[in-house]
Amino acid sequence: MTELSRRSFVRLAGVGAASVLLAACTPNDSISIPPPRSVPSADFFPDIDITLIAIEDTVQIRPGVDTVVWRIQGELLKGDEGTVEPVENSYLGPTLHLRKGQRVRIRFVNELPEVSIIHWHGLHVPADMDGHPQYAIAKGETYCYEFEVLNRAGTYWYHPHPHGRTGPQVYMGMAGFLLVSDDEEEAAGLPRGEYDIPLVIQDRTFDDQGQLVYEGDGMMDQMIGFLGDQLLVNGQQNLIVPVATRAYRLRVLNGSNSRMYKLGWDDGSPFSVVGTDGGLLEEPVERPYLTLAPAERLDIWVDFGDRPVGSSLNLVSLPFSAGGLDSPQFPVLTVLVDREATDNVSLPSRLSEPNFLDVADATTTREIVLAMRMMRGWTLNGRTFEMTAVADEETIKRGSIEIWEFVNMGGGGMMGGSTNLPHPMHMHGESFKVVDRQTNADGQGAWETLSQGVVDEGWKDTVLVMPGQRVKVLRRFGDFEGLFLYHCHNLEHEDQGMMRNFEIQV
Ligand code: C2O
Ligand code: CU
Ligand code: CU
Repeated sequence: MTELSRRSFVRLAGVGAASVLLAACTPNDSISIPPPRSVPSADFFPDIDITLIAIEDTVQIRPGVDTVVWRIQGELLKGDEGTVEPVENSYLGPTLHLRKGQRVRIRFVNELPEVSIIHWHGLHVPADMDGHPQYAIAKGETYCYEFEVLNRAGTYWYHPHPHGRTGPQVYMGMAGFLLVSDDEEEAAGLPRGEYDIPLVIQDRTFDDQGQLVYEGDGMMDQMIGFLGDQLLVNGQQNLIVPVATRAYRLRVLNGSNSRMYKLGWDDGSPFSVVGTDGGLLEEPVERPYLTLAPAERLDIWVDFGDRPVGSSLNLVSLPFSAGGLDSPQFPVLTVLVDREATDNVSLPSRLSEPNFLDVADATTTREIVLAMRMMRGWTLNGRTFEMTAVADEETIKRGSIEIWEFVNMGGGGMMGGSTNLPHPMHMHGESFKVVDRQTNADGQGAWETLSQGVVDEGWKDTVLVMPGQRVKVLRRFGDFEGLFLYHCHNLEHEDQGMMRNFEIQV
């Protein structure tokens, strides 16, 4: 924000405070004006109207034990049946099935003991519909979102975004899938309905009473991020996915606070990847394993048609060493082939027309240096998050196409190389395309343990930036002006302030 607009913001804030005082003096309560965005607007006519309520609840994650969680419950007020699909036996929020072009109203009601706000990760919505932390609401309050689904079909998701508390709130259970469909995706002929399975991978730690333990405040967690010692898929331990002898679309989301995965089938079968964060690829790509950093999604095509009924297949996370982060091998889930299928489909050779931007149309290249700074923790170009502040170099002209280069060249202090960690960098608003990735000599070893599982071919909103790397992404900053966020999606890094606003200006 410029000096001028900062001053005018202060002035506006002053006016707000004055009107609050006036309201308090008004003898008649009934004329008090509701806070902004708490009620539907009269001139928005939604196709879909949903209430999402965040509550404290218990679920059975371990047999016979009620674990306290924070859960998002959904209710469909208007729209096609199946729009709000609860996830059984889980703390997960309902899966929202939306379609491109739909006008959507979501009333978020916070019944938790602290402030919260929900962000639609990957969606291209106006600034005040995006779940910016400045809009966090207190217990008992409602935030009314209204937007049109502009995104192409893809695997998006939602989670809280209050400043400093995103990590613990996601950890307590608040997250869900938001699946967008469109005509192009339908035409691709991918498996649908019960053959299209969203899977979110998360790690948690339980205490002796079976309650969730979050130690995101410790010194080590500040540095590396929270790592749990139990793996959950869709909120369950040792998940078994029953399948028929046919092709499936599995949508895999890393919903962990900071853990990365290197997913492999235990029989060594390769993966056919059909989609990334921002929807379908142009054509399927094959990978020996899948590298998935926090907030990233990969849609895969798996055909169980050749497997005998009764056989099973395990998905594991393979061992890797990513600079300051080592990960052993551990099981993720088991697929059990439990029935003959009556039909099958084959993998399409063309999936979609991604319409990527042209690098030649970029007018600016901005460099974002990711570094640990003494006394300040993780920073972006030396800065940490300030609620509404924007540096000059963070203001963008609406409609422009730019290259942002994320540079992860190491610590800049404290413990030197050992602070050199991967950072999954996320930008709000429109998806981007990874257009360049350079690795220096120091980063080569860590990169090689994960590189073959990275998919830079599609639309993305979160990109893994490994130690010793410079990664360039190309995107448009169109349509909506205002404040949007870019940040590391390691939630402990984000909560510490490894997050900044950018402002799109007319
Ligand atoms: Cu998934 Cu700013 O977040
Ligand atoms: Cu986001
Ligand atoms: Cu980070």
